Amino acid sequence: MARTALVTGGSRGIGAAISKQLKADGCNVAATYAGNDEAAKAFTDETGIKTYKWDVADYQQSADGIAQVEKDLGPIDIVVANAGITRDAPFHKMTPEQWHQVIDTNLTGVFNTIHPIWPGMRERKFGRVIVISSINGQKGQFAQVNYAATKAGDLGIVKSLAQEGARAGITANAVCPGYIATEMVMAVPEKVREAIIGQIPTGRLGEPEEIARCVSFLAADGSGFINGSTISANGGQFFV
Ligand code: CAA
Repeated sequence: MARTALVTGGSRGIGAAISKQLKADGCNVAATYAGNDEAAKAFTDETGIKTYKWDVADYQQSADGIAQVEKDLGPIDIVVANAGITRDAPFHKMTPEQWHQVIDTNLTGVFNTIHPIWPGMRERKFGRVIVISSINGQKGQFAQVNYAATKAGDLGIVKSLAQEGARAGITANAVCPGYIATEMVMAVPEKVREAIIGQIPTGRLGEPEEIARCVSFLAADGSGFINGSTISANGGQFFV
């Protein structure tokens, strides 16, 4: 039977590649987006994947949106918490607003995405929870105190959920992408980006599809013994 998957931030960047991969794997996929209607429409036109608009930082919007997805597509078996933002600044310049925006979207947004889905997964005795963390949650990053805190937090979330969900047939795992050729990384000043690429042994940025492969693996029915783990896909830039 086809699984139903929800991918937050699933219409652009890494999320779009994940949505497409899960569809290719035979899942019914719903992709969320926060604001870019045009990109979402283009994505649906291209892929046939239905998109839903809500702010993951808002619990009620998330709960209502998830209820709608389940009404449309059926109970969610696979949830990929991918939506994330950056508000980079050296710590001495980082404002409380920049801190809170990133915490609310990247960390509280993960709670808001998984929490409404979790009881149904427990009842049905099946679930695949996948959180897209980052190399920068593992190693830290200049100008990313806020972002690195959320991405390290993701690892704590999946390790805890792995223990809570195991007996109910639910796995929770993280993927830590390195620097991937997305708008987020392209927004980094060119000189800085070139310096980053110089630190990647593979000698290039990663492709979104290379992250989607990790998600596909973790989401599979046959991956039930892989729980609480972190897959790093970073071109050899950092080893844990
Ligand atoms: N390590 C050490 N020093 C660094 C540095 C780094 N990685 N990056 C910048 N600096 C230094 C600069 O050389 C400069 O030093 P000097 O003043 O001595 O010349 C100083 O920091 C820059 O200070 P500014 O006050 O001018 O900085 P700014 O307020 O203009 O901010 C910035 C610039 C936001 C830090 C900008 O350089 C930037 O965006 N850097 C990239 C940060 C980054 O890597 N973000 C990752 C985004 S991708 C992502 O997040 C996806 C993922 O998961 C991997």
